Order: sequence, then C-alpha cells, then structure tokens
Amino acid sequence: MPTIHINVRKLATFLQLGLVSVIIYYGMKLVIDSLDSTRKRPGQLTQKEADQLLQKIGLKGIRLTDHELSLASTVIDPLTIPVSWKDIGGLDSLIKDLKETVILPMRQRSLFKKSHLLSAPKGVLLYGPPGCGKTMVAKATARNAGCRFINVQVSTLHDKWYGESQKLAAALFSLARKLAPCIVFIDEIDSFLRSRSLHDHEVTAMVKAQFMNMWDGLQTEEDCQVMIMGATNRPEDVDTAILRRMVAAFHVGLPDGKQRESILKIILANERVEEDFDYGHIASLTEGCSGSDIKELCRSAAIGCVREYLSGFECDEDYANLEKLDEVTIRNINTKDMEAAIEKCKPLFVHHKSRTEAQK
Ligand SMILES: Nc1ncnc2c1ncn2[C@@H]1O[C@H](COP(=O)(O)OP(=O)(O)OP(=O)(O)O)[C@@H](O)[C@H]1O
Ligand SMILES: [Mg+2]
Repeated sequence: MPTIHINVRKLATFLQLGLVSVIIYYGMKLVIDSLDSTRKRPGQLTQKEADQLLQKIGLKGIRLTDHELSLASTVIDPLTIPVSWKDIGGLDSLIKDLKETVILPMRQRSLFKKSHLLSAPKGVLLYGPPGCGKTMVAKATARNAGCRFINVQVSTLHDKWYGESQKLAAALFSLARKLAPCIVFIDEIDSFLRSRSLHDHEVTAMVKAQFMNMWDGLQTEEDCQVMIMGATNRPEDVDTAILRRMVAAFHVGLPDGKQRESILKIILANERVEEDFDYGHIASLTEGCSGSDIKELCRSAAIGCVREYLSGFECDEDYANLEKLDEVTIRNINTKDMEAAIEKCKPLFVHHKSRTEAQK
C-alpha cells in the first residue's frame, strides 16, 4: 500500500493562508457594502411589503422608488388611528373650524372644485403649549378626513450621503402624491423646519429649500389632494417661509375651567369613579394644567386608591401573593383622591404655568 506523507507544517501554513484570505474577503465586502449609498436603508420596506401595506389602505399596483420605500413604513392606515373626536375634550370650536376648513373640502372635493378660496389648504399648523392635544387633534383629523396619513419621522429624512437627504425630502412629496388624498403630518415641526441661519449645515439648508420647493409644487396643482400638517409648541422657532405656507393655523391653548371639566370627564369616562365626584370643583382647582397634566393627576389619584388597597395586605416584594386573590376590590376614585393628587403635584403645575406664561 502506498504511504502518503503529509507535511504538517505546509498544511498549517496553507490553512492559515486560507483563513486570512477569507477574513480579508469578508472585511473588504463589509467596508464596500457600507460605502454603497444605494444599499437598503434601515427600516426600508421591500416592494412586496409596501404592496401589502398599500393594499390595506385601498391602493393596488403602485410601484415605489427606493427612496419612497424608505419612507413607506411611516404610512398609516387611518382606520387604525386610535384617536377620534370624542376622545378630545374642550376643543369643540377648534374641531368645528377644522371640520369646515379641512375635512369638508377633503371629503367633498366636487362641491368646492370651482372655487380657489374654498379648496382644502395645503398647509395647516397646530400650535400651543405642550400637552394640550395638538397631536391628538392631528390624528383625529387624519382619521376623520378619510385620507391616507404619513406620520413623518424626521430621522427617516436624514441620510449620511451627500444629496440623499434631499432625495428623501422629494420622495416624501412624490409618495404623498401617489397616496393622495393624503395628510403628511410632521410633529414638532420646529425641530425639522426651524428658522434658517448662517450657521445651518449646508445639507440642512438644502433639505429645507427642497422641502419648500416641493411644497410650492403642491400649491400650484389645484387638483392635488396633499396637505402638510405640522404641530409645534414653539411656533416662533419655525422658519417664517414655512409659516407662510401653513395658511390655516389653529391655536391649541391651555384649557379654561369648562374645558378642563370636559377633559376630566373624558379621561375618567372608563374608570371607576364615585357617583358624587365633583368634576366642576376639581376643574377649578387645576388652573394652569394642560390636558396631559390632568391625565397625570387622574393617574396619581387612581394609584392612590391602589396603594390604599394594598396597605391592607402583607405583600411579597414582587406582589406575587396577590395573584391568589379571587377578586380585587379597589375602591372608586373620589373627589378627595383628586384633591390629594393635586396637592402633591401643585409645585410642578405652578412652575409649568409660569413657564408657559413667560413663553407667551
Ligand atoms: N383636550 C384633550 N382632551 C383629552 N385628553 C387630552 C387633551 N389634551 C391632552 N390630553 C391628554 O394629554 C396627552 C398628550 O396630548 P398630545 O400629545 O396631543 O399633546 P401635544 O399638544 O401634542 O403636546 P406636545 O406639544 O408636548 O407634543 C394625550 O395623550 C391625552 O391623554
Ligand atoms: Mg405633540
């Protein structure tokens, strides 16, 4: 039988060479891939995924470009938006205005076709202090206007490659056109379209310019059913050229006594509340509070009831023994619970109120 002489040293060198080549190959591939500006962006959908999404909102056979696919994940089916008019308290006159200026012309296009003045505005701004319901109003508008909704995530409009951010900004408008009728919603618009200054990065300035250009394109197209809706609590920081394009501006201010009462009723509608709960009295104690502050107060009052209930038990550290209880009988929230919550949070509201007044 022939004997095979294996030179162990040569074999080891050969294997080492092989290993080094593989490492170099994959290393180079990684570097080259990361330098490829046309590669799939994080969050970018495939055409198939986009087709499924578009089918849900009643659109078929629409081909999207790579840039549009990067933004497609921000398209929202209005029927899945969990906010409707009845969830918003104290903003009845604003909602009426919005219905007349935005929803009516969006829904009944044919009625207003002949008038330039009565067509839906191409830009709508909701402004006012934090936590007063701007985002809620925008979402409810999209749900009720019967149009598609793009909830712009500003981060999806940025790309590290020169010129790509501009292409993404252009893609936002071309995508909206393909989805029309469509509302493009930019929350905290001041952070994205703030006043231009000499210190702006070149790319930021170019994206803003591109954005305004594309927006002007919408204004000139009478039939185009695309609306840009922005919300901000710092309207003074938004570029004046952008403000000019937002022809319909709605102020969502701090709620007054009556408005606070209706917000309270909405927030507590599905909670267990004592029958004699004094909504008017609590509303009068919460002057200066926003809707979101009122929600926090209600949460604090509800937690107070849970805390009281738990104080009657010897609880484990992780409350595991509570699972054995047949029924949990936490008492209803009463006016006193809310008063206690208000007392606890008062310093925060006073600070909040004085800051909001200073901002005015
Ligand atoms: N008018 C309101 N009716 C009912 N709930 C409200 C109202 N305003 C605020 N809230 C409550 O406060 C929360 C925050 O509201 P929202 O996000 O709309 O405020 P915002 O004005 O967009 O604030 P920000 O400027 O900080 O973005 C809501 O989820 C809701 O629970
Ligand atoms: Mg908001």
